[in-house]
Amino acid sequence: MNICCIGAGYVGGPTMAKIAQKCEDIQVTVVDINAARIAAWESEKLPVYEPGLLETVKEARGRNLFFSTDVDSAIDGADIIFISVNTPTKTYGIGAGKASDLKYVEKCARQIAKVAKTDKIIVEKSTLPVRTAESVKRILDAYGNGRTFQVLSNPEFLAEGTAMADLDNPDRVLIGGEKDEASQKAVQTLVDVYARWVPKEKIITTNLWSSELSKLTANAFLAQRISSINSISALCEATGADVDEVAYAIGLDSRIGSKFLKSSVGFGGSCFQKDILNLVYLCSHFGLTEVAAYWESVVTMNDFQKRRLSKRIVSALFNTVSDKRIAVFGFAFKKDTNDTRESAAIHVCKDLLEEGARLAIYDPKVDPLQIYQDLGLELNSEQITICTDQYEAARGAHAIALLTEWDAFRTENTDYAQICTEMEKPAFFFDGRNLTNLDEMRAIGFESHGIGKV
Ligand code: UDX
Ligand code: ADP
Repeated sequence: MNICCIGAGYVGGPTMAKIAQKCEDIQVTVVDINAARIAAWESEKLPVYEPGLLETVKEARGRNLFFSTDVDSAIDGADIIFISVNTPTKTYGIGAGKASDLKYVEKCARQIAKVAKTDKIIVEKSTLPVRTAESVKRILDAYGNGRTFQVLSNPEFLAEGTAMADLDNPDRVLIGGEKDEASQKAVQTLVDVYARWVPKEKIITTNLWSSELSKLTANAFLAQRISSINSISALCEATGADVDEVAYAIGLDSRIGSKFLKSSVGFGGSCFQKDILNLVYLCSHFGLTEVAAYWESVVTMNDFQKRRLSKRIVSALFNTVSDKRIAVFGFAFKKDTNDTRESAAIHVCKDLLEEGARLAIYDPKVDPLQIYQDLGLELNSEQITICTDQYEAARGAHAIALLTEWDAFRTENTDYAQICTEMEKPAFFFDGRNLTNLDEMRAIGFESHGIGKV
């Protein structure tokens, strides 16, 4: 069997590496129009940082895992084609700011329709609005030529930073197809691929629309939990309660559960905001105004949370950060990834830059060029300095803003006492991830602030 995956990004790369690792007899080719990205997948420095990914890629690369820019050949030779291209929020026209931009998906469908000479199974891996499969199928079928295409939905639930473990041992694999015999046969083919390493009871099959909607709903529910606890963090700061204590207390209720209750500077990543806005657009489209408003509030709360931290920093620093050096610890949207898409750090940094601060930024994995790009700055801008470690960033700074929960920033891994001696006084510490013990930080000499703590 031959599998082709169009799109060598954060989803396509790790997912295909795992399939190739687990199914030695299946040839897996990952293609992308971005030649630099493909070259990086073939090198020692992969374009995606994920713990365990390089090892997995090295195990299969050249054996049954290949990376290429020759999209046509890969399509032509494949039995199953995964579409794993980006589906960003539309920035123009109808639905701008909310709807998903499906132009990349549509381009893939047209390319497959033009190139394929035999029947294919097409699998939607990218997160897509409900009923996209229908459009993809119509495009494919419109080209005729006697081939048949089965379109399946198989959303990916991996989280960045834990992608390899999530792929190894997923909570579930979801495959959506149609009721007819040909579609069910295609569903079974895909089930059999996953069944090589995923227990059968964890592979669930539904109709196409349920599968597409489940992905949006899962992300909306997860994000909603974070916005809910973040809303309470603001109340904690006003009342003297401690948000971590509240989260722990409510999380012990088995009906609530303890996961995804970590209050923070705000959620980021390529999925949550995009998928919720997509859901909001879908609800509005169907005239469900109240439902749309309900889900949109999750994003509104997240925006509020991101802004709250920058405001707090300015207000604590005697109402001005102008010309003050502020050390930023972490820029990725969470630990163990080099991805900065929608990172809360971008928003906090932009707010501080607008207030005239000079930022000294250190992230263990993010490419410095990405930081300039995310902040909309020229490469020679003097407003920010990219540092090689947290000590350099903090030297001479008035404050530290810890924005990503990298293990390296834990008190056992960073000598905060040393850092404190080299900072301006009072030395402020803002923990946007509640990663440190604020009392310990105070004992060291910091004026410390956390999220949802007085
Ligand atoms: C998410 C979903 O978890 C995953 O199933 C889906 O396939 C893609 O979207 P991802 O965005 O990679 O995955 O990471 P996730 O661990 O969900 O974190 C998203 C954001 O929420 C991060 O910024 C993280 O720091 C934040 N977060 C997460 C919190 O602030 N508090 C929490 O308790 C959990
Ligand atoms: P995700 O997080 O969903 O994986 P990424 O942006 O990391 O998103 O990856 C999507 C990839 O898809 C990009 O590398 C992009 O170049 C690629 N891509 C987009 N359109 C096409 C296409 N028509 N053919 C091949 N690759 C494409």
